[in-house]
Amino acid sequence: MSQHNIQVTVNGRLHTATVEGRLTLSDFLRVEAGYTGVHIGCEHGVCGACTVIVDGQAVRSCLMLAVQADGSSITTVEGLTAPDGTLHPVQQALRDEHALQCGFCTPGVVMTLAALTSGASKPAARTLLDALSGHVCRCTGYQGIRRAAIKLAGEPGAKK
Ligand code: FES
Ligand code: FES
Repeated sequence: MSQHNIQVTVNGRLHTATVEGRLTLSDFLRVEAGYTGVHIGCEHGVCGACTVIVDGQAVRSCLMLAVQADGSSITTVEGLTAPDGTLHPVQQALRDEHALQCGFCTPGVVMTLAALTSGASKPAARTLLDALSGHVCRCTGYQGIRRAAIKLAGEPGAKK
């Protein structure tokens, strides 16, 4: 199997590694770099649990090879909370709306919403709710997750 040298910045920290060409970004982040907030569920792009932000875009890290991320800047859920423990607005909204149960789906949901709400203008609730349709919560806690998304949107009065 071919080996490749890669360099990625994860949550502001530079990582250099030699990886097999077949290694997924999710396995690299979780197993090799220790970012265990990257949850791995289906491993084929369906559940959304492995979502991270790569160069500003929400990405399913099980569908990307580590070697494809060479040179990229990656944010995992560990990178969202401020050093003093202050939660990211998305994390706070989910907490306020009691939008997590076992928490397995939560990092992926958080990263998708964080990517979409990071710009200067807030997206429409519909945009956030559509994005959530790509996340599976096996605890079926969808109502709380949807309420949190609506709270984060530019139209707080949108239908829940
Ligand atoms: S583990 Fe990547 S989408 Fe399910
Ligand atoms: S909170 Fe358990 S899978 Fe979503």
